[in-house]
Order: sequence, then C-alpha cells, then structure tokens
Amino acid sequence: MTSLAPSATALVDLAVDAVVIATTTGADGLEVTTGAGGLDEALDGRLVDVLTSLGTTGRAGEVVRFATLGAVRAATVVAVGLGPSPTEDAPLDSEVLRRAAGTAVRASAGRSSVALALAAAPGAVSTESVRAVAEGALLGAYTFDQLRTVSAAGRPAPVRELTLVVDESSLPLAAAEVDRAVITTAAVRLVRDLVNTPPSHLSPALLADLAREQAGAAGIGVEVLDEAALAEGGYGGILGVGQGSVNPPRLIRLEWRGDDAVHPAIALVGKGITFDSGGLSLKPSTAMEWMKADMAGAASVLAALIAIARLRLPITVVGWLPCAENMPSGEAIRPSDVLTMRGGKRVEVLNTDAEGRLVLADALVRAAEESPAMIVDVATLTGAQIVALGQRTSGLMGRGDALDTVATAAADAGESVWPMPLPPELRKGLDSTVADLANVAPGGSREGGMLVAAHFLGAFVAEDLPWAHLDIAGPSWNSGEPYGHTPKGGTGVIVRTLVRLAENQAVRTD
Ligand code: BES
Ligand code: MN
Ligand code: ZN
Repeated sequence: MTSLAPSATALVDLAVDAVVIATTTGADGLEVTTGAGGLDEALDGRLVDVLTSLGTTGRAGEVVRFATLGAVRAATVVAVGLGPSPTEDAPLDSEVLRRAAGTAVRASAGRSSVALALAAAPGAVSTESVRAVAEGALLGAYTFDQLRTVSAAGRPAPVRELTLVVDESSLPLAAAEVDRAVITTAAVRLVRDLVNTPPSHLSPALLADLAREQAGAAGIGVEVLDEAALAEGGYGGILGVGQGSVNPPRLIRLEWRGDDAVHPAIALVGKGITFDSGGLSLKPSTAMEWMKADMAGAASVLAALIAIARLRLPITVVGWLPCAENMPSGEAIRPSDVLTMRGGKRVEVLNTDAEGRLVLADALVRAAEESPAMIVDVATLTGAQIVALGQRTSGLMGRGDALDTVATAAADAGESVWPMPLPPELRKGLDSTVADLANVAPGGSREGGMLVAAHFLGAFVAEDLPWAHLDIAGPSWNSGEPYGHTPKGGTGVIVRTLVRLAENQAVRTD
C-alpha cells in the first residue's frame, strides 16, 4: 500500500527520490507556475532553461524528468504538464490537477518516495486542489497484481511513499484532505480490484461474502438474499438472469445510518452481473473479453457506501446490489420467456443479453418499497452508451431533481457525466405482444439503445420518485493505455460522484 503524508518542508530539502512540479503553457510558452519554490534558486535560476532545453511545453499529460546532480536533495525532478496557464477567467480545474498528480506518480514508478508540489504555491491552495492532488497521487499508484505469481517481471514497483507539499499555513487543511483522500481512493481502488477480478474468483455468492466482510467492518448493516429468499420474495428478474449459471444469484442490501437523527435517505442500486456472456443471446468472444466488468455498478455502490461510512457522513444511504452470472445452458432463460418481476409486472425477454435491466428492475422495485427520498442506479448497461458518449463520459438519465443533484455531484467530484433525454416515442418500442413490456425493442432495433434501456428501468420506478440512472458501460473499463490517474482495466469511475452526492446531501449538524 502506498502512503500519503502532508509536509511543509521546502522542496529543496525533502529527502525523497523525486519531486514533482507543475508546468503550464502561457502566452509566451512554457511557464512553471506552482511549487517550484527554492528549486529555481538551487539551479542558479535556470529551471525554465533546463526544461525548455528538454523540449518541455507544459501541455496536459506531458512528463519531463531531469537529474538534479546534487543541486537539491531529491535525485530527480518530474515536471508534469497542466495545459494552458490558469487565468482569473479560467482558473485551474481541479480535475486537471488530479490527472497530473496521477500521471506524475505513474511516471515515477520504480522510485520509492515521491513528493508532489502541485498544490504548493501560496494562494493556490484550496480544499479542492489539495484534495485533487491527494486523490490523483494515490490513484496513480494503483496496480493489480493479486493473481500474478511473478510479481516483478520487468514492471517497476509503484511508488510507496507519497508526500503532499503545502505551505505551513495549509498543513491542517492538507492533513484533513489526506485523511479523506485515503478513504475515497481506497474505495476507488476496491472497485478497480473487483472489476479486474475474474469471474472464476468473483461469483455472486463470493461478492456477497466480500460485501459482508468489508461493509460489515465499516459499520454498515449487510443482508444477503440467496436464491431461496429471492424465490420467496418474487424476484423473477434476478432469478431469471441467474438461472442459467451454476453460480446462483444474490441480492445484497447495505445500510449506512449516520449519527444524525434527521436523514434524507438515498437508495443506491448497482448492476452486479459477475460475468455477462449474453446468455443464449450469446455475445461474440471479443465482446465477452471485458464482461467481467459487468458488476462495476454493484462494486461502485458497495465501495461508495464503505467510504460514506468511513467518513461518518450524517445521512442514511441504502445500497442494493442485484448480482447474477449471465450464462447460456439448458436451464437458461430463452428469448421469448416471460418473467414475473418483483411487484408483479410481467416482462417478455426477447434478448437474454439485455439482462442488466432485468436484475435492476427487481432491485429498483425493492428499493422504492422503503420510500427513499431519491434513487440512483449505476450500471454498465448498454454498448449504446459507448456509441453515444464514448469511453470516458457516463450517461445520466432519469426523472425529477435527482438529475441535477447527480450532475452537480459529478461536476464537484471531477467525473465526466452528461445528461441524456428519455424521448417518449422510444418507450413504445418496448411494448410486448404477450406481456406488460419486452426487455428490448422487437427486431433488434438499436436506435437510442441507451435511452430505451433507461425507459425500461423507468417503468419500474414511480413517476413521482426522484430517480437518476447512470450508464457507465464505457467509463468503467479502460481498454486503452493508462492516462492521468486512470489505469488500464477497471477504472473505479463514479465512486467519487456517489460519495460526493452523499456529502452534498448530508445535513450537517456539527
Ligand atoms: N453488459 C452489457 C453492456 C455493455 C456493453 C457494457 C459493452 C460494457 C461494454 C449489457 O448487458 C448488454 O449486453 N447490453 C446489450 C443490450 C442489447 C441487447 C439491447 C448491448 O448493449 O448490446
Ligand atoms: Mn448483456
Ligand atoms: Zn450486461
């Protein structure tokens, strides 16, 4: 595990392997804006010359390193680019800092201790920027090596000790933000771990065991419905999706009750398909390669609740994780089968690969039975999300003020989420010839697939209940190269938004 501690020691005196400074692109080219205090003097005023001679431009994502040859205690300076120099009209976005911190820490792998002076310039220190650097740095040190037997194998080890450099007066603020960042990034890392874990090692029952252990340890109440309890409760969607697998489904309920007596309650629902083969509507093998990630929504809800509990937020949050493995077999649901869902609605399953909405529908109905003030569901629901918004922006749909509330939380947290409509004409496409509704538009129409899926979910949520649906199909998994604080594989996206949502909603009495 990588540690993080704040420090007000001058950059030049820090006993670390590398120090990280920020560069930006100004009107006259390269600028070194923050945190280079003392370094320039130690280099005889030639810091910008050195960087310029190395081709540094200050653009976002750029990393330039040079050896200090004894000029300061650290052996290496890492200069990470932030992009355009901030102005009064366009101040630095904290997500830019978060990414830069992640980039710098990733680029420093192989070194043991690294100090980041990204939020150090006097006047530049704000809660958000210190938080961003702390989070980005810890996230940039993530690796998933649990299943390797040869741990080194040519890969440099992640940085072990991180130092957050701030000025003296910001130390208390930095200490508090480091504590918070340790909690929130542990949650993001948990999601990455769970998403990266193969389905052979993470069935619905194993996910329930893990939830019991980890959420329980954080003071969260955990209840697990097994297949018998699911049958008893009439959860036809979860049972239907799970029936083709030898690994039976589960519905996990998590409850955090903050200390305060008056609680606006939030219900969080996360899709937990531990592997999505498509079922009898089988996916092609390349599309199946990352379908171990189809439980990212459930993992995000679990991890967010753990963070909310560890932050002791004065709010009640209930999490629902409908978990199943979607497999083809002689016992699997068939296209044209009809399921009776929790609450009694009948669904004709025309495509067994549209399974997420089936397990979510049961969980949404169950969540609403407790009359929360707002429901937010998170799901790797549709490939259409990726077509519409790409791999880095989650789709936000739903009804009522939950939409603005979630959009604000995402913006505050620095996560990319974009509102999408629910055009009424697309709802009719889900009319079934035999049941109350079908799980896909007949004939395999792909038009507005993300929105059609949201319409399906909306049919299981009362019109007047504030409800937000986040489709994180693309953003939950990075199939490309690492960037910023995001590694390859599981990204842990949306956890920060969910935690921020609870923070924003919490009515503080202290
Ligand atoms: N889990 C997939 C969605 C998905 C696709 C997530 C790609 C991440 C990357 C979901 O269960 C699914 O298969 N959706 C179908 C729906 C279709 C049958 C209407 C899809 O998007 O193709
Ligand atoms: Mn599917
Ligand atoms: Zn799926």
